Amino acid sequence: MSAESDNKGAQGAGEARKPLLRALSGEALWPPPMWLMRQAGRYLPEYREVREKAGGFIALCTTPELAAEVTVQPIRRFGMDGAILFSDILMVPWALGQPLRFAEGEGPVLEPLRDAAAVAALELDRVRDRAAPIFDTVRLTRLALDQHAPKVALIGFAGSPWTVAAYMVEGHGSRDFHTARGMAYADPALFGRLIRTLVEATTDYLLAQIEAGAEAVMLFDSWAGMLPPSQFRRWVIEPTATIVRNVKRLHPSIPVVGFPRLAGPLIGEYVQRTGVDTVAMDTAMDPRLAAAAVPAHIGLQGNLDPLSLVTGGAALEAEARQILAAMRGRPFVFNLGHGIEKVTPPEHVAALVRLVRSGG
Ligand code: CP3
Repeated sequence: MSAESDNKGAQGAGEARKPLLRALSGEALWPPPMWLMRQAGRYLPEYREVREKAGGFIALCTTPELAAEVTVQPIRRFGMDGAILFSDILMVPWALGQPLRFAEGEGPVLEPLRDAAAVAALELDRVRDRAAPIFDTVRLTRLALDQHAPKVALIGFAGSPWTVAAYMVEGHGSRDFHTARGMAYADPALFGRLIRTLVEATTDYLLAQIEAGAEAVMLFDSWAGMLPPSQFRRWVIEPTATIVRNVKRLHPSIPVVGFPRLAGPLIGEYVQRTGVDTVAMDTAMDPRLAAAAVPAHIGLQGNLDPLSLVTGGAALEAEARQILAAMRGRPFVFNLGHGIEKVTPPEHVAALVRLVRSGG
């Protein structure tokens, strides 16, 4: 038998596992399973309707019936292989007690965390309790999938400590996160305490998602690529490795996906030293270079440019086909290189699903 398994044919005894979980665990399937980052969101009219009903974004994330509903919307509409829990990476700082709001048209706003007193005030022992509605969302979504879409895997997630700390210190999104990067140099002891708090909170938060029914977990490190190698090792690789080790100790068969966005040539070292099962490639990564830098048993995920999905048509097809050609024979999950854009026509997503399902 070839190393590549057929993802369309009859289900043999060993193939009862969901395709997405098989690929994330290192099996090469063709056509590859797929899902899209931010597949639930404002580009979908049915999302906007539920979002309206919820009132605010945090209310949506903490109302399990509504959050579970928007989690399954893209499954219903497009038939993806994975459903990603509808929540946000900033719900961990929120559960630690840091005031958070999502301002209309402005993105997330946190009360900036700048000193030792603010780090000491974070309430690690309250995370499970405050985040309980999120774990209920996981439970409800699993029930819905088990009933209506038994081949679809539920992905839990969290932000990685570096990216979450960057928002916590800065207080909002930023092009360069100067304050956070500055604090990491000026007071590494304080910044280290913040990172250690996040390692603990994130581990516990992911374990609770797994206990509630998440079948794989992903760590989003959207701002990993702004650090030089020494800082990348200290604030991205080491904390991620600790979280992966702690999750795997209790749940060795749950695949862990890492997304060190814009890590560039450090992707190989990231994979080797963190112990992730699959690495998500950002839009700028050449899939062939990633394939050369990452051992063959490690999954790759990605990395279509979300802008090509906005454009659609021949541009979309050409980009998607290039990625598919580069990834054939590898354990691979088709995805975007970053989140779906709000202006994406849903019919372009449907066309992309058809193309990937045909194997390109
Ligand atoms: O469908 C999914 O992918 C699941 C849900 C999900 C959201 N955010 C929902 C969301 C996931 C996995 C995230 C991750 C996230 N959140 C990241 C990492 C990935 C990345 O995009 O780099 C980051 C950095 C955040 C922080 C965040 N949340 C920002 C910067 C914003 C504002 C930007 C924007 O698109 O509005 C959010 C809000 C947010 N998170 C929305 C959604 C659907 C939009 C809120 C709304 O509906 O008004």
